[in-house]
Amino acid sequence: MSVAAPSAALDLHLYDHYIPGMSCGDVLGHEFMGEVMEVGSETKNLKVGDRVVVPFTIACGECEQCQRGNYSVCERSNRNKSLADKVFGHGGAGLFGYSQLTGGYAGGQAEFVRVPFADTPHIKVPDTLTDEQVLFLGIFSQPAGRPPRSATFNPPIPVVIWGAGPVGQFCVRSAVLLGAKQVVVIDNVPERLSMAAAGGALTINFAHESVLGRLQELTHGKGPEKCIDAVGLEAHATRSLDSVYDRVKQAMWLETDRAHVLREMIYVCRPAGILSIPGVYGGLVDKIPMGALMNKGLTVRTGQTHVKRWTDDLLRRIDEGQIDPSFVITHSVDLAQGPEMYQTFRDKQDGCVKVILKP
Ligand SMILES: NC(=O)c1ccc[n+]([C@@H]2O[C@H](COP(=O)([O-])OP(=O)(O)OC[C@H]3O[C@@H](n4cnc5c(N)ncnc54)[C@H](O)[C@@H]3O)[C@@H](O)[C@H]2O)c1
Ligand SMILES: [Zn+2]
Repeated sequence: MSVAAPSAALDLHLYDHYIPGMSCGDVLGHEFMGEVMEVGSETKNLKVGDRVVVPFTIACGECEQCQRGNYSVCERSNRNKSLADKVFGHGGAGLFGYSQLTGGYAGGQAEFVRVPFADTPHIKVPDTLTDEQVLFLGIFSQPAGRPPRSATFNPPIPVVIWGAGPVGQFCVRSAVLLGAKQVVVIDNVPERLSMAAAGGALTINFAHESVLGRLQELTHGKGPEKCIDAVGLEAHATRSLDSVYDRVKQAMWLETDRAHVLREMIYVCRPAGILSIPGVYGGLVDKIPMGALMNKGLTVRTGQTHVKRWTDDLLRRIDEGQIDPSFVITHSVDLAQGPEMYQTFRDKQDGCVKVILKP
C-alpha cells in the first residue's frame, strides 16, 4: 500500500545521532496518516481512497509475537533483523523512519510512503474526525495504553511523569481519563508545564525546585508508586553530579545514553512500585542503582508500543468526545519547512510542543 500523508513526531534522538544505524538520505517520520493511493496484490483489507493512520511498528500479524499482540517485537517485519539481533540479542519489529537497525524503512515525512504488511497494522479512521484528532493514535497509544495501565491507579497516590513533551502530555491526559486522582509532571520548559497543568497535572520545574524534595512532600514521605519516564536517553539536569558524569562519559564515548531520570525514578519510587519507560533508550547506560531497584522490589515495564493493542479503545474515546488529542499541536507547517521545524522543536523555541508537517 502507498499513502499520501500528513506526519508528526520529530525524533530528536535520531536527529541528534544518539541512535545508531542512521544513514545519509534516510527518510524520518514514524507518525503519519493519509489516503491509500495504491494497493499491492496481497492486500485484502484496503482499497484506494481509504483514509488510514499507520502505526510506526510494522507488524506481520502472523508470527508468534504478533499473535500474542506483541506487535512491536514482530519477528518478521525487520528486514535487518540479523543486524538488530547482533546488537540487542534479539531485534524487534521493523519501524518506519527509525534507522537501519529497525529495517531501514523510509518514514512518513514525505509525500508518499510505502507500507509493507499493509493489511495488519493500519487503522481506518472515520471521515467525521479530522486529521489532527486521529494522527496521534500511534504515539498516544503508548501512554494511553501500557504505562498508565501497568501503573493501575491507586487513587490517593500520584502518578508521576518525567517529561512534558508530547508523550508526557498524552500521559497526563490518559492518567486523568483513566481515573488518577493526582498527576504530577516534571520538566523545565514553562509552556510545556502550563499545557500539562491545563490537563489537570501538578507541575514541578526541575530547574527551580528539588524533584526529590517535592515528591517526598506530595507523598508524605512514602514516594510515588507509579513513575513514568517520558524523557528517554537525552535527560537534562541542572543541579546533579550524575548528569555531569553522564555528559563527560557520553563525550568520551564510554556511555551512549544519559540515565538521570531512570536513577531519579528508582530512588524516589515507593517500594513495590512500578516504573514505566516509554522514553527511548538506544544503547548503554551507567551507574544504575541496581541495589535499590532490586531491594525495593520495583517492576520495570518498557518497550516500543504495541500500537494496535490500544487503538480501538482510543479511537472510540476520541469519537465519543472523551478526549481530543489535537490539543497538543502548536505548529502546523508545510513539509518543506521540516528542517527548520526540527531545530525549533529541538531548541524548544516559539512554544513548540508538537508539529504537524503537511505535504
Ligand atoms: N516507546 C514508544 O513507543 C514511544 C513512542 C513515542 C515516543 N517515545 C519516546 O518518548 C520520549 C518522549 O517523547 P517526546 O516526543 O515527548 O519528546 P520531547 O523531547 O519533546 O520531550 C521530552 C521532555 O523531557 C524533558 N526533560 C529533559 N530532561 C528532563 C528531566 N531530567 N526531568 C524531567 N523532564 C526532562 C524535556 O525538557 C522535554 O520537554 C522520547 O524518548 C520518544 O522517543 C516512545
Ligand atoms: Zn509478526
